[in-house]
Amino acid sequence: MKLIGPFKQIITLSQLSLRGKLYDEQLEIISEGGIVVDQDKILGVDSFENLISRFPGIEIEKTEGEQIAIPAFVDAHTHICFGGNRANDFAMRNAGKTYLEIAESGGGIWSSVQHTRNASEQELLETLLERINFLIRLGITTIEIKSGYGLDVENELKMLRTIKKAQGLTDATLVPTCLAAHLKPRDFEGGNKEYLEYIIQHILPEVKKEELAKRVDIFIEKSAFQPEESKAFLNTVKDLGFEITVHADQFTSGSSRIAVEVGAKSADHLEATAEEDIEYLAQSDTVATALPGASLGLGEKFTPARKLLDAGAILAIASDWNPGSAPMGNLITQASVLATYEKLTTAEVLAAITFRAAFALGFNDRGRLQEGMKADFITFNTNNFQNILYHQGSLKTHTIYINGKKLNNETI
Ligand code: NIG
Ligand code: FE
Repeated sequence: MKLIGPFKQIITLSQLSLRGKLYDEQLEIISEGGIVVDQDKILGVDSFENLISRFPGIEIEKTEGEQIAIPAFVDAHTHICFGGNRANDFAMRNAGKTYLEIAESGGGIWSSVQHTRNASEQELLETLLERINFLIRLGITTIEIKSGYGLDVENELKMLRTIKKAQGLTDATLVPTCLAAHLKPRDFEGGNKEYLEYIIQHILPEVKKEELAKRVDIFIEKSAFQPEESKAFLNTVKDLGFEITVHADQFTSGSSRIAVEVGAKSADHLEATAEEDIEYLAQSDTVATALPGASLGLGEKFTPARKLLDAGAILAIASDWNPGSAPMGNLITQASVLATYEKLTTAEVLAAITFRAAFALGFNDRGRLQEGMKADFITFNTNNFQNILYHQGSLKTHTIYINGKKLNNETI
């Protein structure tokens, strides 16, 4: 057991509601605070003085200089296991080339599939760990990671096994998701329906047997999988015992409705969600996950986060870090930019990258600093928490704690 502090401010995020709009006045800020950690759990969060009298003789881990503490962040949607690079797609898109022209000249998701298939497990693991460490340095200690650049039994399993190996080599929590239904691969003989059937018959049983993922995702879009076939697929997947998440309403509306109907944990993207579907999402427990990194990468509009919150939805914000549409990977920059364009309060943004994002992944043990929670928290060398979003991602974390343990800077 130890007492960590004192901190200029501790932003606990406790008491904030799981859904709907939040005001900054609702944020609990403990001045000159401390955090008592017992093993991997938080035992108390209070003023430093109170904690010293509540826990006489407790070992103290003293902070250097002025620091603030906040729950560690959660990135609930990434595709960071991939081979190759799509810088040329980005340049072509900015030079005015269309999706089709980019695909025809060897770009698009299919090019990442080829690079990922050609990469050795060792190469994939090394680059994945580099990206995980980049996210940890930003203060993110829970990371969802999708497959989806393998698209056949061998390569989807290769991706998911790589993620499993990475879990053995990092302190962060990795949440693997099978996204075999990202796109029908060009070398598959048969239509979409046959490919979705192939996933059910040949990929998911192996995923289950090796315990590689408990979640399944699908990209529902004109250029990927159609609404009806997707719904049938998701219902079968659910019956197999998987949790569901959906790439929904990215360019055309309608699929967030399917996500709600099948009881998905989250519907992600939502840049094109129609007004009536905002209402539908808001009345469900399906988390609405905005991916501003994809809007910035593609030059598309942002998810209507303000409207979703006003309607009462559970809003999360995630990076969507992938080699194509969202190559940046800096969730803090993206969340801050989204806040500026969508007029989100600091409380709403912080909730969206902590306990609300955790809920999308099925966790209720993290994302708030209070007794009983997992001791994942981060500190910044500043005296005011508002500086985190104000600097739009350029204020660096000072210390990362995972399970109550200070991470060694040299290893991340
Ligand atoms: O979330 N929309 C579909 N899938 C990814 C893009 C993947 C890629 O371009 O490689 C996304 O934006
Ligand atoms: Fe995505």
